[in-house]
Amino acid sequence: MSFQNLLIENKGRIQYITINRESKLNALNKATIAELHTAFSDAFNNPGVGGIIITGAGQKAFVAGADISEFNNIDAGNGGEIARNGQKNVFDLIENGSKPVIAAINGFALGGGLELAMACHIRIAADTAKMGLPEVTLGLIPGYGGTQRLAQLAGKGKALEMIMTADMITAADALQCRLVNHVVSQDELLNKAEEILNKILLRAPLAIASAITAVNAGFKDGVNGFETEIQAFENAFKTKDLQEGIAAFMEKRKPEFKGE
Ligand code: COA
Repeated sequence: MSFQNLLIENKGRIQYITINRESKLNALNKATIAELHTAFSDAFNNPGVGGIIITGAGQKAFVAGADISEFNNIDAGNGGEIARNGQKNVFDLIENGSKPVIAAINGFALGGGLELAMACHIRIAADTAKMGLPEVTLGLIPGYGGTQRLAQLAGKGKALEMIMTADMITAADALQCRLVNHVVSQDELLNKAEEILNKILLRAPLAIASAITAVNAGFKDGVNGFETEIQAFENAFKTKDLQEGIAAFMEKRKPEFKGE
């Protein structure tokens, strides 16, 4: 599948998805949102892909938000549908994905760009990156899950301050408020993302998928996270990977997990 707005590159079992609209600071237009849906669905279904790193083309921006130039053409009655479809097809798809997704935030992550990073399982930021949810400067609010995920990651007070002031924060501030996991130099960004993902790829893939599901369960209305964890724990006993993990430990060797 070829894309107009994304670059896809495979490096071993890691798949890079790079948003490639550098002249528009990688802003998410409708076509890019549709391509992200296809690219992530393909990656999650491709047995050759173990995990994904998403980043933006160039050194200036990860993603500078939804494409504001498209907002003029939106009918007043369609706003909810755009948010609902986008959340379901891209942001929730990533968050609930069966494979680890790391956002390598190489520059501005604003609006939908920060929402995209927040939907990923882990965020690494370049020390030059700036992050924010500036929607209220346009008369909007975040629509791709930003009000929820920012409050989950950074706490309600910080989320409300960032959303209401529309201020951008530095990578150092983002680290301090737990919005990102690590901050490194721009040069080290992809190395750091690969280092973490390669470590995860040594672990049992079905257990990783279950861990994502169980952690997410605690943030879902009407879902008992503890019960989800118990069920996932039980399911782990039915996997060949667990047998392999125990055997490898007993035999003092490295496990070779097959995701079975
Ligand atoms: N949607 C559409 N186009 C965007 C965009 C967005 N969210 N963000 C940047 N661009 C475009 C600019 O229009 C410009 O295009 P042009 O060269 O054809 O005029 C190009 O990307 C470069 O951006 P520019 O504003 O010239 O860069 P800058 O260094 O002066 O400023 C930002 C960088 C990120 C501060 C500024 O682009 C910005 O505020 N962007 C919008 C952020 C935003 O509000 N996002 C949330 C949307 S809901």
